[in-house]
Amino acid sequence: MRRFIVDTDTASDDAAALMIAALSEEIDLLGVTIVAGNVGLKQATDNALMTLEVCGSDAPVYLGAKRPLFRERHETISVHGKDGMGDCDIIHPKRSPEEKRAVEFILEQVERYPNEVELVVLGPATNIALAILTDREIMSKVKHIWSMGTPGFGFGNATPVSEFNVFIDAEAYALMLDLEIPVTIAGFDLCAGNIGLDRYELSYLAHGSKPAQFLEQATSKLLQFNLDTRGVHMVDLPDAIAMAAAVWPEFVQDKVACHCHCCTEPGHAYGQVIFYQKGRTYEAMPEISRFNAQVIKKVDEKLFTERFMDLLMEEGGKEA
Ligand code: RIB
Ligand code: CA
Repeated sequence: MRRFIVDTDTASDDAAALMIAALSEEIDLLGVTIVAGNVGLKQATDNALMTLEVCGSDAPVYLGAKRPLFRERHETISVHGKDGMGDCDIIHPKRSPEEKRAVEFILEQVERYPNEVELVVLGPATNIALAILTDREIMSKVKHIWSMGTPGFGFGNATPVSEFNVFIDAEAYALMLDLEIPVTIAGFDLCAGNIGLDRYELSYLAHGSKPAQFLEQATSKLLQFNLDTRGVHMVDLPDAIAMAAAVWPEFVQDKVACHCHCCTEPGHAYGQVIFYQKGRTYEAMPEISRFNAQVIKKVDEKLFTERFMDLLMEEGGKEA
């Protein structure tokens, strides 16, 4: 069993990612830590609790950062709806979050399971940065960080050069990149293709298991956003792609070692992550000291859809 902690700002694509972790038999979901991002902390917490509930998971949930390390919290134009989950009045969790805070939980679990815990970071990296600032030595024993972040080798969605999760707290992302452990980045470019859920998959989910129906409703505002802005009948799920890369290694078809530099200076480049790729030479950096992340270049879109739909359509999900 692989030991996962998922750090999330729970909106609909985070919920899709949480479902993969919660419904995969090979994953021991130690807990879910919450960070403000798509929506505020309370809403993100309730969204995570409800998602776990419909999947039959009793994984504990922990409150984390309400705002970035230094900047004021950015009021987002949430493409997922005001509640982050399609505004369908489907968020009524029975459980509450734990008393313990997110950073304490992360450090406690990594200390308990040195070099075994994998962190899947699906929102701003504030909780991870706070854990590093609190005890870098313990955090150096994290087995792997899987990050949904950066535009990858495409364009940003928060600015032309910055992706939302990094843009909200670039200083935190820079701290995370500076931790000398294995990091894999799934950029926003990976969901630019046909990967995601189209009209047929969405209508199939609408008549499927509890988790399937829940996700179809949760992504309804995202669908409307894509129809209104891009004229496409589909939902893109960047967080689910990052989780798929973590859970199903064969999903990743190509990746490249990079020295990733996260720009934290105020201005138009804030939140840009510059990739100095291994095997290339750069005037600005003739000697690359360390390749601090693997950046995914290509994924198996067909495998994602098959595995994801199979997982969701199994009746009811795992027994709690
Ligand atoms: O840019 C996409 C990322 O920002 C996803 O994690 C989405 O949930 C939002 O947090
Ligand atoms: Ca997210």
